[in-house]
Amino acid sequence: MIVGVPRESYPGERRVALTPAVVPNLAKAGLEVVVQAGAGELAGYPDALYVEKGAKVLPDRAGVFSSAEVILQVLGHGANDVNGQDDVPLYRRDQVLIGFLRPFGTQAAVQQIADAGVTSFAVELMPRITRAQSMDALSSMANIAGYKAVLLAADTVPRVFPMMTTAAGTITPARVLVVGVGVAGLQAIATARRLGAVVSAYDVRPAVKEQVQSLGAKFVELPLETKDAQDERGYAKAQDEAFYQKQRELLGKVVAESDVVITTAVIPGKKAPLLIPAAMVQAMQPGAVIVDLAAERGGNCELTKPAQTVVVNGVTILGQVNTASGVPFHASQMYAKNLLTFLQSQTKEGKFLFDMNDQITSDTLLTRGGQIVNKRIREHFGLPALA
Ligand code: NAI
Repeated sequence: MIVGVPRESYPGERRVALTPAVVPNLAKAGLEVVVQAGAGELAGYPDALYVEKGAKVLPDRAGVFSSAEVILQVLGHGANDVNGQDDVPLYRRDQVLIGFLRPFGTQAAVQQIADAGVTSFAVELMPRITRAQSMDALSSMANIAGYKAVLLAADTVPRVFPMMTTAAGTITPARVLVVGVGVAGLQAIATARRLGAVVSAYDVRPAVKEQVQSLGAKFVELPLETKDAQDERGYAKAQDEAFYQKQRELLGKVVAESDVVITTAVIPGKKAPLLIPAAMVQAMQPGAVIVDLAAERGGNCELTKPAQTVVVNGVTILGQVNTASGVPFHASQMYAKNLLTFLQSQTKEGKFLFDMNDQITSDTLLTRGGQIVNKRIREHFGLPALA
């Protein structure tokens, strides 16, 4: 079976779905690799490295789509809402597509994949079970994004992060607040701590308190009822507007005292909760920076503009999208490892198993045989259950 890796086409995207290092592992699993020329270049993986590891480099995109039975992408159609469409005419019936496909995005995009007869797996739908941990691309990218968010903040804020005792006086450390302590938030805390900042963090899930403290940060306790904050998959549950209103009131003081605020709060399949209204930004000190990692999902800050930097009253708000693409070498390395383990679990002797009793398969399979087959996604779009 041939696995094809087209060059990523989303503007500014620098990652690549497969790195040369995994090509020999795929070969062992009965999978040959073809790569579009230049696919890994921006991530630091030149064509020659792929060839050295046994992959074939093809000059054009159409060639990759026509020769491969499996297409691996970082941002596939759906997740690439700028020019992902351009690949649709290149799809072949029963071709397998694996990548970020934004299954909770627009029904039209998912339906287009289905209509093309493509069998697709969306990596966003990976179950959070122990066996699938090494395939969890969302976590890989969140890790990188949390790290990068702190570097962006440090580069933007007009202060230093660590305490400095110098002949010219003592500099107090920067105060960093992380709101939303999932994978990205935890990495942001760790990174800000490494740079010497004083870090505090808040999440609706009280379970994270211990993790925050183990990283040397302070857990911000808000007197809010949060017993019902977590669903069975470990994700935050959506709360009602009264809850968010109360949360904003309580969070305001901590936000106003912070030099840097990194927000990562999201609810799967829903718009990100609004945690920092415009008035709260007004109360921040000039020079303060907000890095909104939830920008793509509507933003945690009211003033966030996706993919833009906004300055209001001297406060800079970075509407971060696609942040992991900013560290393409390691983001690609992690993603490639995620895809390799996924392919190893889903194929045998170079053939897909489509074992619907395997939770990894049934949770991630999005389209097949011309239909959207994923139960969760059908429910999300209000489609009737399939027989
Ligand atoms: P996420 O990306 O879905 O959300 C980020 C964070 O925002 C979450 O911690 C969430 O609780 C928080 N949040 C949502 N609404 C909020 C609000 N109103 N105020 C403050 N915070 C709010 O989260 P992610 O990174 O996917 O992690 C969720 C959990 O899943 C974590 O406990 C993580 O450790 C766990 N996890 C488990 C895995 C596994 O078992 N294989 C793999 C990856 C993560």
